[in-house]
Amino acid sequence: MTGTTASLLTIFGATGDLARRMLLPSLYGLERDGLLPPSLRILGTARSELDLDGFRALVAEAVERQLPGSDRDPAALAALLRRIHYQPAALDDDASLRALCDTITALRDGGDVVCHLSTAPRWYAPVCDALGAHGLGGAGTRVMLEKPLGHDLASATAINDGVARVFDEDRVFRVDHYLGKEGVQNLLALRFGNALFEPLWNARHIEQVQITVAETVGVEGRGDYYDDSGASRDMLQNHLLQLLCLVAIEPPSRFEPTAVRNEKIKVLRSLRPIGRDEVAGETVTGQYTAGAVGGVAVPGYLDELGRASSTETFVALRAQVDNWRWKGVPFYLRTGKRMPQRCTEIYLQFRAVPHSIFDHGGAPLQPNALVIRLQPDERIELRMMHKTPGLDRNGLQLSQVALDLDMQEQFAAHRRRLAYERLYLDAIEGNGTLFVRRDETEAAWQWIDAIHDGWRHAGITPRPYPAGTWGPSRAVTLAERHGHAWRE
Ligand code: BG6
Repeated sequence: MTGTTASLLTIFGATGDLARRMLLPSLYGLERDGLLPPSLRILGTARSELDLDGFRALVAEAVERQLPGSDRDPAALAALLRRIHYQPAALDDDASLRALCDTITALRDGGDVVCHLSTAPRWYAPVCDALGAHGLGGAGTRVMLEKPLGHDLASATAINDGVARVFDEDRVFRVDHYLGKEGVQNLLALRFGNALFEPLWNARHIEQVQITVAETVGVEGRGDYYDDSGASRDMLQNHLLQLLCLVAIEPPSRFEPTAVRNEKIKVLRSLRPIGRDEVAGETVTGQYTAGAVGGVAVPGYLDELGRASSTETFVALRAQVDNWRWKGVPFYLRTGKRMPQRCTEIYLQFRAVPHSIFDHGGAPLQPNALVIRLQPDERIELRMMHKTPGLDRNGLQLSQVALDLDMQEQFAAHRRRLAYERLYLDAIEGNGTLFVRRDETEAAWQWIDAIHDGWRHAGITPRPYPAGTWGPSRAVTLAERHGHAWRE
C-alpha cells in the first residue's frame, strides 16, 4: 500500500466522455454500496465554465443515463452529489492551475489526494509539474494516468520522465481498465487458486493460446484520436498484452503490487520481437469497409472518418513467449472494430491425446480446451470428450461437451461492477496491484514499435474487411499456416 486512504479524489477531464460513461457511474456504484470512505470528497475539473450546480446536474445525468432504472437509488445519488465539488481550470494557464491546486489543498484537508488525469496525455507532465510547483508534489499525492500513455516508446518515456520529475513510481497509477474487470482478475484466481491447472499450464500440455477482443462498435465519434492510434496502439499495446501477461506469468509469491508486476514484466520481456523480417508472416492488419453488424447496415471506416487513412481497425498476430514455460506455444492475438459480435475471450487448447484407442473411423477426438470468456458474459468452459449415449455396437462414439461455469448464474446475488469501481477503490486506498508499472508500459511499447517499424519498412497497409466479419481472410491463414484455426 502507498500512503493512507485518500480524503480527496480530483478528476481532471471531469466533463469528458470517459467521465460521463464510466468514472461518474462507478463512483455512484461505490457510493450506493457504502464503499467510499465517509469523508472522501470528489473534485471535478475541466475547461468548461460550469458552476457547482451545473456540474452536479452533469453527474446526475451521467449516472441516470448509464445505469438501468433498477440500479438507481435517489438517496445514494444525493449522497454522491454532496461529496462533489467543481472548479474549472485551463491546463495551459498557470494562474488557473495554481488556483486549482489551492482548492485541492483546501479540500484534502491534510489527507492524501488522488489526481486522476483523464485528459489528453500531453498534459500529464505539465499538470504534474504544476502539482509539484504548487505544493502537491509530496508523498500525500497519487496520480492516476489514463491510456494512451504515449504513441510509441519515445513519447511514453518522455511522459513517464515528466511525471517522474515530480512523483516517485509508487505514486503513479497507470490505468488499464481491463485490469479492473472481474473476469480479468479471475484469471489469477483460476490459475493460482486451483492446483488443478498449474501442472498443465505450459508448453508440454498446451498446444496454442488465442486471445480475442472483438468489438461490434466502430470509432464512435473518436475518429481523431483513433486514427492516430489504430487497433495496435489502442488495444494491443495495453489490453491484449495485459491479458497475455496474466495467462503467461509465473506464480507471484503474493497478490501484491511488486510481486505481481515483477512477474508481468518478465513475460513482456520474453516476447519474441516481431520486426522487419517477421511482420509479413506473423501479423495481419485490416480496415473495415461498409457492411452489416447484427443485421444493421454500417458505413466503412473511411466514411466515418471522412478522409483517407491507412490506420488499422483490426490486427491479428502470432506472438511467442520465449521462456522455459512457453517455448514454442503460439499466442494468437486479435482485436478489431466492427466484428460480428462483441466478445473478449481467452482460449487455451491442450495437446491431443498421444494415441487414440477409439480407432473406429468415427469423428476424430477433439483436443481439450479451456475457454475463458470475459465479455459480454463471464463464463468458463472446459471442453472435453464424452461418450455419446447409445449402444455403440460399431465402436464407442464420442462427442465434445463442455463443463460450463456461468458466473452470472453462480454469483447471481453479486452485482457486476464497472472496472473503475475497483480501480478507484484501489487508488483511493493506495494499492497499485491492478495498475501498470512504468517498465511494463515501456516494454510493451518497445515490442509494438518493432511491429510498426516492420510495417513501415515493408510498406504493409491494412487489408479491407467488410464490417460484420472476422477481419481479412489473411487472418485465417495466419493461424492455418501453423495448423491452427481461430475459434469462432
Ligand atoms: C478502450 C479503447 O481502451 O477500450 C476503445 O480506447 C475500446 O477503443 C475500449 O472500445 C473497449 O473497452 P471495453 O471495456 O468495452 O471492452
